[in-house]
Amino acid sequence: MNTLKVNVEHALNHLSEEELKRMLPEVLAAKEHLLKGDAAGNDFLGWVNLPEEIDPKMLARLKDDVARLTGKSRLLVVIGIGGSYLGARMVIEALQSEFASMVRRENPYVVYAGHTLGEDYYSQLLALLDHEDYSVCVISKSGTTTEPAVAFRIVKAHLEKKYGKDEAAQRIIAITDARRGALHDIAQQEGYPAYVIPDNVGGRYSVLTPVGLLPIAMAGYDIDRLLQGARDMRALCQSKDSLEDNPALMYAAVRNALYRRGIKVEMLVSCLPNLRYLAEWWKQLYGESEGKEHKGLLPHSLSITTDLHSMGQYVQDGERLMMETMLRVQRPNSTVPVPTDERNLDGINYLTGKSLTEINACAAEGTIQAHVDGGVPVVEINVDSINEYTLGQLIYFFEFACGVSGYTLGINPFDQPGVEAYKRNMFHLLGKPGF
Ligand code: PA5
Repeated sequence: MNTLKVNVEHALNHLSEEELKRMLPEVLAAKEHLLKGDAAGNDFLGWVNLPEEIDPKMLARLKDDVARLTGKSRLLVVIGIGGSYLGARMVIEALQSEFASMVRRENPYVVYAGHTLGEDYYSQLLALLDHEDYSVCVISKSGTTTEPAVAFRIVKAHLEKKYGKDEAAQRIIAITDARRGALHDIAQQEGYPAYVIPDNVGGRYSVLTPVGLLPIAMAGYDIDRLLQGARDMRALCQSKDSLEDNPALMYAAVRNALYRRGIKVEMLVSCLPNLRYLAEWWKQLYGESEGKEHKGLLPHSLSITTDLHSMGQYVQDGERLMMETMLRVQRPNSTVPVPTDERNLDGINYLTGKSLTEINACAAEGTIQAHVDGGVPVVEINVDSINEYTLGQLIYFFEFACGVSGYTLGINPFDQPGVEAYKRNMFHLLGKPGF
C-alpha cells in the first residue's frame, strides 16, 4: 500500500497552479525516456526495473552468506565510497537504534571504511578490530577506486594476521563488476565469495543490488520487505500519468518549476535524526545526477528541530535562494510521553501527556508557516512510518523522480564526468604510473 504523498500546497505561493500544470508534458516525456530507454544515459537504466527483476537465486545465496558470517562476527566492516556505501548506511541508520554500538544485538554492528582517507580513523578502526570478531564486505563497481582500495589493503592485512589467510578468505565478501577491475581479479585469485553489480546500474542507483542488500541483511533487516516497498512504488511511478496520482512526477515537476523561477538550493529537511544518512544518500543521488553543464539545484540538508537552532536564522532571513523539501513521518515506532511534574518548575506542564511526535509535528508546522512567510517554498513528502517497506518506497520514489527530473532539466542524469577531475590531479600528485 502506498503511504507516500507529495504535498505542494506550500510551494504554490511561489508558483501558480498553471505553471505547475504546464510541467506535466515535460515530466511525462522524461518518464517515457526512462521507460523506453531512448535518451542519454540509456545504458544505465538497469535500476528502473530492478526490484522486479532481482535474481531469486542470488538473493538465496546472499542470505546463506549472511547467516554464515553473522554466526561468527560481532562487526561487519563495509568498505566503499559514494554509491558503494551510502545506500546501505542510509537504511541501516534509519532502522537501528541511535545507540546501536552500545547495546547487545544479535546481528553484527556495521562500521564503515573506504569512505575517507583520515589516518586516525584507520588507526582507531584497527584498534577496535583487534578486540572484535569481524567480517568484511568490500564494494567497488569499478574495482579501482583509490579510497576503498587503500582501506581494503589495510583491513585485509589485519584480517589475515588475525585469522590466517584461509579463514580470512572465508570472512571477506567482494561486490564488484562481473568481469573487470582490480577487486574482481583479487576476489577471483583469493577465492572470495563475490556478487556482481550489474553493468547497467550506476553506483548511486545501486542500493537495491547486493551493494545495499548484503550489508542491510547483515545488520538484521528484512530485505524482502525493502524490495516489496520498492516494487510497489515502481508500479505506481510507472503506471500513473498525472501529477496528483504520481508522486515522482509531482516532485520532479515542482522542483524544476521552482528552479526555473530562480531557486538555486533544495534543502531536504527531515524531522528525525536517524534519517541523516537518507539526506546524505539523496544529496549524492541528486547532486551527482543533476549537477552538470552549470545547471541543477544544489542539494543541501537540515535536520529539525536541531538545525533550527543553527541554520534557522539563515533560512528565515538570509539570501532568498532556497526551497525546502520536508520529509515528514506520521507515526513513530515507539512512544515517549512527557511526564507530569507537580511543581512545574520548568513551566512545561502544558505539554504533559503529549508525545514527542505531537510536539515535533507542531514544530514542523510552525517551521513550514514561518519559512513560507519568510519566502521559502516548502514541498512536503509524507510517509506513514519508517520501516523496511517505507524505506523501499522512498528509495524507488527518489530514484525515479531523479531520472525524470534530470531529463526535464535537460542533462544526462546517469553519468558523472565531474567526479574524475580530482582523481587525475591526485594520481599525478601521488605519482601513479601514467599520470
Ligand atoms: O555514484 C557513483 O558512481 C560514485 O559515487 C561511485 O559510487 C563512487 O565513486 C565509488 O565508485 P566505485 O564503486 O567504482 O568504487
